[in-house]
Amino acid sequence: MYKDLRENLAELERIGQLKLVQGAHWDTEIGALANITAGKFGPALLFDNIPGYPKGYRVVTNNFNNPKTMAVALGLEPKETTRELVQEMRTRYKEWISHPIAPRFVSSGPVMENVHRGEEVDLYELPTPVWHHNDVSPVTGERVRMLGTMTAVITQDPETGWVNLGTYRNQVFSRNRVGLDMRDGRHGAMHRDKWWKQGKPMPVAISVGHDPLVGIFAGMEVAPHGVSDYDVMGAIRGEPVEVIKGPLTGLPIPATAEIVLEGFYRPDDERFEEGPFGEWAGYTDGGSTKRSLLVEAVYHRNDPIISGCPPGKPPRCNEMYLLCTWRAALVHNALEAAGVPGVTAVWGHETGNSRVLLIVAIKQQYIGHARQAGLIASQCAAGAYTNKYVVVVDDDIDIYDTNDWLWAVCFRSMPDDSIEIIRRTYGSGAAIKGRFGGWSPSLHKVHAASETQRTLNVPGSVCLIDATVPFEYLNEKPETADPPAELRAALARKWPDLVE
Ligand SMILES: Cc1cc2nc3c(=O)[nH]c(=O)nc-3n(C[C@H](O)[C@H](O)[C@H](O)COP(=O)(O)O)c2cc1C
Repeated sequence: MYKDLRENLAELERIGQLKLVQGAHWDTEIGALANITAGKFGPALLFDNIPGYPKGYRVVTNNFNNPKTMAVALGLEPKETTRELVQEMRTRYKEWISHPIAPRFVSSGPVMENVHRGEEVDLYELPTPVWHHNDVSPVTGERVRMLGTMTAVITQDPETGWVNLGTYRNQVFSRNRVGLDMRDGRHGAMHRDKWWKQGKPMPVAISVGHDPLVGIFAGMEVAPHGVSDYDVMGAIRGEPVEVIKGPLTGLPIPATAEIVLEGFYRPDDERFEEGPFGEWAGYTDGGSTKRSLLVEAVYHRNDPIISGCPPGKPPRCNEMYLLCTWRAALVHNALEAAGVPGVTAVWGHETGNSRVLLIVAIKQQYIGHARQAGLIASQCAAGAYTNKYVVVVDDDIDIYDTNDWLWAVCFRSMPDDSIEIIRRTYGSGAAIKGRFGGWSPSLHKVHAASETQRTLNVPGSVCLIDATVPFEYLNEKPETADPPAELRAALARKWPDLVE
């Protein structure tokens, strides 16, 4: 398996899944190209010759946006279809999670090729993109430069020693200050609360350029609570991830990372205007005052590469495919673990950015089976956060084909008895105006009494649509009028241009 981002990119180039883009501007052009390509499930993009920056100072995006690139990111053979990929991810995950391999400390690594401390820190030396055309602060008038989008924020639980990686975005506020936008419920936020309760600043290391495995583990709830992301990454690699002790914080940082920042997060640190930013629900969101982190040191390789993963209007959203495939695999496994029989497939739909709309296919075995599967899918750990719709269909439906499962909604469900509404579910803290998550300013409260001033999530709700044929009528289900597979194959031999 690749040792670092550069070997990963070489592998992608070999299989025709890397496109080198020369001369795209850091202000909007890189972000727009990345999002448009993501919506087409396209190849990885490596941006070089970025105006105003030395050649070699690069940005990579889209390195897990289709079955081929995502499989390579996980050290698997490239896959032709999402179905194959999800099936393999879900079986391999069970092995990986049961055979964790702890990281190994090494004395140094390529990330230490360039070291800038204190006054030498200047984040503007990196070609940080403005990812979306309207990322501009109405307060300061400044363009929003988000250095950490596929960022891995490394923190440690001060009581147990558990090390976590989380993607919590980092806007460049000044030459040595970044934002650290950890939403309520995130592991990094739990660590922060413990450090601050002890009256101590939280040591933080932030990798903003790294191989895709680091990004996947930081950005998705793959490792369960209390399990270090590094240990599961080691299991996937079949050997320990090599880390070096952060010179300032002592935190384990990937030895082969491209760019790492270090500092200490304090409750009383200077505040800046953060955002607005094009968010994963597709709106330009936010714009509020946020606490900053003082970056006391920057380490980077020669010719460093920023890992970018700009959100956007799904499916033109860079994190979409990563989240859809993992959500599908983890929710399917959770249904199995909960003892729900006959689940044949799960999909976290791309237009809902994997979380908002889940589709579950089952081979029905008893009355109530569909409601049971839908309720558990929407409330298990991998499915609950911001889920709004869960659709349960029979196993003859292709859940990767939106027209097919929507056909089941149209012709197998009846609104007066196929829909359940579940209230006060795990909502979002994302301040997205309009109907998202039922957001409204009066509900979006800051917990003034808490010492960490945590911003609470807004309660969500879930609509379960049972689009299965009622169990008691299964035997009477009519045949569909669609041409069957054998007829299609025969027709394809005679008239390939019409059928394929
Ligand atoms: C590209 C990308 C960007 C993300 N940005 C943020 C963010 O800015 N803040 C946040 O709290 N979560 C963000 N998330 C979601 C978390 O990273 C995700 O829930 C992850 O599992 C958090 O790690 P944790 O479970 O260890 O806390 C993002 C995820 C991805 C893939």
